[in-house]
Amino acid sequence: MPKPIFVLNGPNLNLLGTREPHIYGAESLDDLRTRCEAAAAARGYAVVFRQSNREGDLVDWLNEARTAASAVVLNAAAYSHTSVAIYDAIKAMATPVVECHLSNPQAREAFRHVSMVSPAAKGVISGFGAKGYELAIEAAVHLAASQDAEKA
Ligand code: DQA
Repeated sequence: MPKPIFVLNGPNLNLLGTREPHIYGAESLDDLRTRCEAAAAARGYAVVFRQSNREGDLVDWLNEARTAASAVVLNAAAYSHTSVAIYDAIKAMATPVVECHLSNPQAREAFRHVSMVSPAAKGVISGFGAKGYELAIEAAVHLAASQDAEKA
C-alpha cells in the first residue's frame, strides 16, 4: 500500500453544509471525506483527512506530509489568500500538492484573486464544488504515481 494522500482543510470548512450553501454547496465536510476516501480507494490509496481553523496546524501537517504522504490535496480556505507560512511549507516539500477550492475564487471578490498556494502547488482545481475534491484526488494520485515512477 503506498503512503496515504493527505487532504487538508482550512478555516471555516468545518461549517460546510450550513455555511453560505449557495457558494459552497449543501454537503458537509464528512460528505467530502467520504467522496475522497472512495475516490482514493478506487485507485489503491488511503486518505488522511483533516480540518483546522488554525494556520499553524496546516503548516505542521504540511511538514508531516513531507515524509508521510504520497501527495496532498490542500484547501487552505481563507489562508490561501494570506499565508506566507503555508507558501513556505509547500516550497519546502517534494511531495506534490494539489490546491483545491469548492468555489472559483477568481470569479469572486478581488481579495480572493491572489493565492499564496498557487505558485507553490503543482496545480489548482476550483469551481466544481464537492466534485472538485474527487478531481483533486485523481490529480494527486496521478502526481504521486509519476513521482514514484521517477524514483524507481
Ligand atoms: C474556499 C475559497 C476561499 O476564498 C474561502 O476563503 C474559503 C473556501 C473554497 O473552497 O471555495 O473559505 O477555499
